[in-house]
Amino acid sequence: MTQVTARRIPVTLIRGDGIGPEIVEATLRVLDAVDAPFQWDEQIAGMAAMEKDGDPIPEAVLESIRKTQLALKGPLTTPVGGGFRSVNVRLREAFKLFANVRPALTFLPDGRYTDIDLVLIRENLEGMYVGAEHFVPVDDDPHAVAESSSFITRVGCRRIAEFAFDYAVRNGRKKVTVVHKANILKALTGLFLETCLEVGEKYRHRLEIEDKIVDNTAMQLVINPEQFDVILTTNMFGDILSDEIAGLVGGLGLAPGGNIGHKAALFEAVHGSAPDIAGKGIANPTALILASAMMLDHVNEQEKATRIREALQRLISSGRNLTGDIGGTATTKEFTDALIAEL
Ligand code: NAI
Repeated sequence: MTQVTARRIPVTLIRGDGIGPEIVEATLRVLDAVDAPFQWDEQIAGMAAMEKDGDPIPEAVLESIRKTQLALKGPLTTPVGGGFRSVNVRLREAFKLFANVRPALTFLPDGRYTDIDLVLIRENLEGMYVGAEHFVPVDDDPHAVAESSSFITRVGCRRIAEFAFDYAVRNGRKKVTVVHKANILKALTGLFLETCLEVGEKYRHRLEIEDKIVDNTAMQLVINPEQFDVILTTNMFGDILSDEIAGLVGGLGLAPGGNIGHKAALFEAVHGSAPDIAGKGIANPTALILASAMMLDHVNEQEKATRIREALQRLISSGRNLTGDIGGTATTKEFTDALIAEL
């Protein structure tokens, strides 16, 4: 009798720096436990690649992602101030991963907020993060003035707006809040607002669409976060608000993210490489595990993704075997063992 071999989906795997290898290991064990159909092409990037080959993104990494069009990535360290440009930003640019998707769901029982279920969709390629900045020397101070330019294009706004409204409809969401600062940055975020509302016209029969200024949004998120469903915003505002949102549901250890383009998608934890706890075996792997569940959704394996999310929900709400960042004393391994038992 011939045995049918299940289809395996090639995925580029980057273990990353700091706590990266620890949380990637935990995530791989969980994916194995649900028999996720992935076949890993392991690559090295970031500090680890810098030390090995003198290049934080070796060509082999790019080549692998070009082929697989799918990547799961541990956090990568970026030097502050000088040094190489963020590998994360460069990967987003290389593969035109224009949409950053960051869901936030209440997991912790007895937290400050009990009913948060929102998704922040952030434009990923334009705005302040294009990195067009320089110093202007004055007299003997080479850093006397710092100058930075930002740009936003109508094409880029349209692309992210269509993605966000489609995402909202596909995922049964009810409302999209367009977040901007068009009262002050009238051209820059005015164009974003204008284009999003224009694109939104054809979705108005299926979605409620509103807009809010970013500072008010930051406050409303603390006062009444349950009012938000999908937030659509620009690059830098999205970066800041998504960490705030992670804080509302229990911190960075619980926040996953997807970077999505037309030709590739890369899934990761929102948090960084946490050098302060690296190597201690105490990092919370939940964010990366949730990112891998987003990747399962992305390849139409929703049933496995839901199993993982529900097991996490049960484990975390039980209050047992939790890692230090969410009030427990368990190690990464103990947490992962408990999650696999829950599965
Ligand atoms: P971070 O997110 O690494 O750490 C902030 C705080 O949260 C630390 O106290 C850390 O211990 C804690 N934390 C983060 N993840 C945790 C987890 N899974 N479990 C338990 N505690 C956790 O932010 P930081 O310190 O600003 O950045 C460190 C490095 O990471 C930098 O080089 C930065 O550029 C890089 N980074 C990389 C990102 C990525 O690869 N996507 C995203 C953000 C930062």
